[in-house]
Amino acid sequence: MGQMINIDFGNSYTKVGVRTDGNELSTPLSDNVLEFDDGLNICIPTLAARVLRKGKEHWVYGSEILEIGNSQGVEVLRNWKPNFFNGSSTPLKGIPQAKIPAFATMKKLSESELQHFMDSLNLNEKQRAALEDLKNGEDEPDPGQTDLDTKEIGLKYFRWLRAFLEGICTRRGIDLRKTPTRINLPSFGAKTTAEDLLIEILSEAGWKIAPNHPALPEPVANAIGVFSEGRNILWRPKRTEDQFPDYPGMFGTNEFIKAARKRFESRYNQRMYWVLVVDLGGYTLDIAMVGFDLEEIDIPLNGKYQGKQRLATLSEKIGIRALDDKVKSILPEEKQKLIDELLQDPDPRRVEAFHRFLYQRGRPFHISRQLIGQKEEGEAIQEVVSNFAHECAKHVEDFITMHQYTRIDDVVMTGGGCNIPQVRDAIVGLLQGYRLKNAYVPALAAEEKNLPPKCQRLKPLLVRGATAIGGTSVFFDYNGE
Ligand SMILES: Nc1ncnc2c1ncn2[C@@H]1O[C@H](COP(=O)(O)OP(=O)(O)OP(=O)(O)O)[C@@H](O)[C@H]1O
Ligand SMILES: [Mg+2]
Repeated sequence: MGQMINIDFGNSYTKVGVRTDGNELSTPLSDNVLEFDDGLNICIPTLAARVLRKGKEHWVYGSEILEIGNSQGVEVLRNWKPNFFNGSSTPLKGIPQAKIPAFATMKKLSESELQHFMDSLNLNEKQRAALEDLKNGEDEPDPGQTDLDTKEIGLKYFRWLRAFLEGICTRRGIDLRKTPTRINLPSFGAKTTAEDLLIEILSEAGWKIAPNHPALPEPVANAIGVFSEGRNILWRPKRTEDQFPDYPGMFGTNEFIKAARKRFESRYNQRMYWVLVVDLGGYTLDIAMVGFDLEEIDIPLNGKYQGKQRLATLSEKIGIRALDDKVKSILPEEKQKLIDELLQDPDPRRVEAFHRFLYQRGRPFHISRQLIGQKEEGEAIQEVVSNFAHECAKHVEDFITMHQYTRIDDVVMTGGGCNIPQVRDAIVGLLQGYRLKNAYVPALAAEEKNLPPKCQRLKPLLVRGATAIGGTSVFFDYNGE
């Protein structure tokens, strides 16, 4: 139970968690460059820039891009994470993403549950057939091929990241080359070719791949980060045959989860306590539902309670990047160009300011002396943000409906996107109908005026760092080392 590294490979920012020892607290690595969210500086831009100078090409990455300045011959590559996942899942073409349940979930549904689920979604014949195929088929949906360029960028970026973090790790007593490493990926249901490719890339880039769960679903790592807050304890499976269970099986014998159950137990007189963890990032909306059984402390989460899964997860392809596109589409061409230029700026703080002004505060923003989002234009942008927020809430609602949850006791909202008050309000508003008791929301969203009832401030470390620290948890080690 030694050291562990976990890379939360976010589309906008990469956050890296480390565990220096099984008895110590896991913490995110700080690069001392960019400060967001109450002085935290754990966000490493997921950027690569090709710089052409005097006929020679060289590459710059991550936080170091800030130093190159916005001069000619600089091409900033951002938003390349989705390239790993952009293939089509052939049998399910034509069905909106929100309506496709996770592959693993699909496999577990009984025939009557499947019928009930399809009835509730009003699918047409073709869509029903596609879903039945998925349930009965042997193969996971194919996410498609990733082109060579994406692999090249990934290789370059992860090589740089390793070199960049080496010094920071050494100062923490961690030898990066020898420390097992995990990466977090969206929970699109299947064990994707993207997963294999990213593991291959990490390995080629000189990272030591963790023997257990080298690729963890983002919502699961996030939920564990939220509940454990980075705490580790020495834990081993009780029996040797437990050595390689499914990760949900781990919940039953885990001290964090026992502790979390205890916390809820003393407060509420109910058997089940349902907590929803929602993360809105640059690329995906990640959802995890965890049902804590307060009567049977040791019961694993891979089962069901009254037909409802004790642990369910889902990622949807909707994030701040998609919101940028939606906002751009209602603006005149010249302003679209200005935003494109802004997105090409090697200093990510400009994009951050743009998002904070327009989306969080609802204020206009200057680019090259042009004001974006004034008066009617501002109102139109707010409407786009509002529609986007409701779209996110609709995905949460579809997830709840798919799993037939009827009560959500707490919601924990993480990720940069949950700083946006409209997103917070749409999701908290929806959950009021599910007898919500507490909503833990990011500080920025918690400080806004007109906060919906039941909202409390979530620790800043968890807003951006929960996935990174969650993935390093001893929770996911069970090779009995
Ligand atoms: N206060 C804020 N207001 C509006 N947007 C914000 C705010 N804070 C952060 N964001 C935006 O949230 C996004 C980053 O969030 P986060 O770091 O959670 O994403 P990510 O982990 O990189 O993406 P993903 O997990 O989807 O791959 C960025 O686009 C950022 O500009
Ligand atoms: Mg993220």
